[in-house]
Amino acid sequence: MACVLVTGAATGLGRNTVAALLDDGHEAVLHARHPGRLTDVRDLLDRGAVPVTGDLATHEGTLSVVEQANTLGGIDAVIHNAGVYDGPDTLAVNVLAPYLLTCLVTGPDRHVYLSSSMHNAGHADAGLIDSRGPGLPLGYSDSKLFVTALAAAVPRRLPAVHSFAVDPGWVPTRMGGPSAPDDLTLGHVTQFHLATASDPDATGGYWHHQHRQTPHRAVRDEGFQDEVLDALAHRTGITLTPR
Ligand SMILES: NC(=O)c1ccc[n+]([C@@H]2O[C@H](COP(=O)([O-])OP(=O)(O)OC[C@H]3O[C@@H](n4cnc5c(N)ncnc54)[C@H](OP(=O)(O)O)[C@@H]3O)[C@@H](O)[C@H]2O)c1
Repeated sequence: MACVLVTGAATGLGRNTVAALLDDGHEAVLHARHPGRLTDVRDLLDRGAVPVTGDLATHEGTLSVVEQANTLGGIDAVIHNAGVYDGPDTLAVNVLAPYLLTCLVTGPDRHVYLSSSMHNAGHADAGLIDSRGPGLPLGYSDSKLFVTALAAAVPRRLPAVHSFAVDPGWVPTRMGGPSAPDDLTLGHVTQFHLATASDPDATGGYWHHQHRQTPHRAVRDEGFQDEVLDALAHRTGITLTPR
């Protein structure tokens, strides 16, 4: 049995992931943006999921989630699921929050990051992470390229940690929209498996429907991975080091 923290679990794939964890006898720590969002997951809390709350668009909100998670303790894996498709919070929610949780939540030896096939269209320019002025706005594809590179880089910095990126397919959640063509019931299966399997699969891969796939060339480039880590450390003031 594993204890898994799932971010952004008030709806969509995160909610389905928590339900699958509970169905399979695991412990789930369910993250939602704020306490009001917990009304949508009352059924999961009644089944034993433990709530943590915080706005991942802000540094303070993310640190609050870290503090709540570390107070609970015993977290074996984190599924970095929370995400936005556009807008000014794209960098913070899709990239900075997963990075900070990876650096600061104590205990987990598995991290699963929600990527997307759209990462292939991202700009391999780590400077976007640290550009605060008007310039090229960070897009969804860029954010998913960075978080996929983070997933590949983590085991190089934290050798005891298994780390994966998952493309869940284009599925009909709020983000995916009602006409998304892929099967929603499969959308959480790979990240659930990677977070809980008793024999963890080889670390560092990019996965889709329980198969490893080849990600963007930059993801496999250790120089780019290091640029992303350096930019994240500079932007957040926190360096990824073994705990
Ligand atoms: N659906 C797809 O086709 C698809 C395809 C590829 C990748 N993905 C990825 O899969 C993940 C889950 O997506 P989904 O389709 O389930 O999307 P969704 O239904 O829109 O759910 C996104 C979740 O993230 C949370 N979230 C967003 N901003 C937040 C913030 N500032 N603080 C805390 N929580 C925040 C949302 O909370 P609220 O409900 O409170 O807003 C919600 O629980 C995302 O990372 C997405 O990029 C999805």
